[in-house]
Amino acid sequence: MSVYFDKQTGIFYLESNNTSYVIKVNRFGFLSNLYYGKKIAREDLSYTEVLRDRGSEVAIYGAPERKLSLMGMSNEYPAYGKGDFRECAFIPQSADGSRVFESEFEGYEILKEKPPIDGMPSLSGGETLVLKLYDKISNVRVKLFYTVYDDVDAIARRAEIENLSDSPLMLNRAYSFNVDFPDGKYRVLTQHGAHLREREPEITPVMHGVISVDSKRGATSLHSSCFAALLEGNADEDHGNVYGFNLIYSGSFKLNVEQSPYDTVRVNGGINDFDFSWKLESGEKFSTPEVALVYSDGGVGKMSRTFHDLYRKYIINPRYVNELRPIVINNWEATYFNFDIPKLCSIIDTIKDSGINMFVLDDGWFGKRDNDKSGLGDWTVNEQKLKGSLKTLIDYCHASGLKFGLWFEPEMVSEDSDVYRAHPDWAIKIPYRNAAPSRDQLVFDLTKKEVRDYIVEAVEYNLKKYDIDYVKWDMNRNITENFSDGLPADRQTEIMHRYILGLYDICERLIKGNPDIFFEGCSSGGGRFDPAMAYYFPQIWTSDDTDANERVKIQYGTSLCYPLSLMSCHVSICPNHSTNRTASFATRGHIAHLGATGYELDTTKINESDLGQIKGQVEQYHKMERLILEGDLYRLENPFEGNYFGFEVTSKDKSQSVITCYKTLDMPNNAVKRFYPKGLAPDAVYLIEETGAKLSGSTIMNVGLIPYFPWSDFATVVFNLTRVK
Ligand code: GLA
Repeated sequence: MSVYFDKQTGIFYLESNNTSYVIKVNRFGFLSNLYYGKKIAREDLSYTEVLRDRGSEVAIYGAPERKLSLMGMSNEYPAYGKGDFRECAFIPQSADGSRVFESEFEGYEILKEKPPIDGMPSLSGGETLVLKLYDKISNVRVKLFYTVYDDVDAIARRAEIENLSDSPLMLNRAYSFNVDFPDGKYRVLTQHGAHLREREPEITPVMHGVISVDSKRGATSLHSSCFAALLEGNADEDHGNVYGFNLIYSGSFKLNVEQSPYDTVRVNGGINDFDFSWKLESGEKFSTPEVALVYSDGGVGKMSRTFHDLYRKYIINPRYVNELRPIVINNWEATYFNFDIPKLCSIIDTIKDSGINMFVLDDGWFGKRDNDKSGLGDWTVNEQKLKGSLKTLIDYCHASGLKFGLWFEPEMVSEDSDVYRAHPDWAIKIPYRNAAPSRDQLVFDLTKKEVRDYIVEAVEYNLKKYDIDYVKWDMNRNITENFSDGLPADRQTEIMHRYILGLYDICERLIKGNPDIFFEGCSSGGGRFDPAMAYYFPQIWTSDDTDANERVKIQYGTSLCYPLSLMSCHVSICPNHSTNRTASFATRGHIAHLGATGYELDTTKINESDLGQIKGQVEQYHKMERLILEGDLYRLENPFEGNYFGFEVTSKDKSQSVITCYKTLDMPNNAVKRFYPKGLAPDAVYLIEETGAKLSGSTIMNVGLIPYFPWSDFATVVFNLTRVK
């Protein structure tokens, strides 16, 4: 049992192994957050709610004192319009145009099973607390759902809004959550990025005013992540209180961190309310996406390990999450659009006995598609270009001991395609305006059922016709001119969210409907890397940038929230196609091993020495693969802060560990660099395979390991540790 209610004090205690989250129904009927953090005794924390006369502030409505201010009150779901001038969670608009929600506590329920969200992915889980707020004048109910995970220090939250009135209700903002923290010194960790440069961490002091991260693109985006963490005091990678927030949503989002004039700090967010409103008809409900809250008393590193455990246990498809992954060779960087079956077979011939066991045919196999200007949406095999049938290629793969995977971009359509010529109204655009160009493609209007049906049918036709074990699902443009002629004028601001609901519908039908096929997600690299996508895709292509030096940064950033097993990481050709940089084949392998490893290069063109290394690399990967799937990640060196990068992945039972050390630039006469592992058992004795030394966990962690890096830039050393005592 993880939810307790003390009827006498009106206090709810939500408890995981190490966390308490305490909410009180206060005397004004508000849900006030009294505490979130390290586990404490179940005591009466009412004394922490100190409300004051705040001079010129507006008084709490209904309060006999007529002085106390809402601005000093913490609130689990603050609404706009009654004197809390901080960023609120909720702005409803009644039929008369008024925009107020006077929240009154209506009651609570404790559900044995966590109810799924209709139409949206969410964490699985058990016992769930539902707190009900009601506004009797507008006749609107808000239900707040809380699920506590005993075994991982995480809480899932969301809100559901019910219009019980006779008239439509406009939702101008309906966030997933709000948490108010007491005054203190905090910094906020967020992520920014771009194509080929995803998820760079950034830490900013929390200030009076609002710090926001968001996406207005209709996708989580390459440019920001639906994640923010509050770092208390001097919290760092390994120490201190850290509170992580990650939205389980794939569309336009917003997360705010605001310090009030009275120094309290508010964090909230959900669907981006920029260019958003939702018309909720009488009797209808609207559910927000879910958010995962993680508390760590061991810095950012422990927060990450908790997110990893949470997602591996409760959102990634259990069928695949711990399954050994296929070792892929993908032809994109090898051939781009320029291939036919003989060319592809020549690549397959070179890697036949290397341990690579999945060939993935990327973009260009369908319709008229020799470049990115045409063909999307026409999902019929172009046999003329291939110089044969797809079956011939698949048979060749099978005869060579490889399974077969195929690329699709289901959500997109080229203007130069048969399907667009037949159905120009199936794309998101404004009919009498030119569409803003992006990769010469448009976005299918997933708000329309007939469009979703077409996509499912066209993709599934191939999945049924051919023997396909793996699908790479790409998405390469953001939404502009977000207009749908299928929606009335007063619902045009619903498109971005309706698009995402449409996306989840086609994912549900295509992915859940074909459970034997392994689906990899992709979006111009890692442009839609979020927990909701992780529900459908056990692997996501992390970035189009496959340069080892850039990858250490991208994979470092991605690991803040997401487990290594979720990140697809490929060895590619050098000079690298994104950076023109050269790293050794060994380095490229070592960095690709820190995720779901694979290859993406023309193996007919690489030298014998590199080609010969593939088999050994695959064997090496298999030795550590369980750790990548199930182990704990410790980040040892931050490549954004210095010349080195270090990841330690250690098994939960601490019997095996792999430590990957990376040096960016060689420096003559520099210090002897040590790496300090963190997650070993201090009293255990480990054999270090590479040196033959046997040392205690305590010695290795305190004295450190000294890698003898090869004499070059972009060099790696890997230590394999096995517990021998
Ligand atoms: C995107 C993907 C790449 C590749 C191309 C194909 O950029 O991220 O991996 O699939 O599309 O067009």
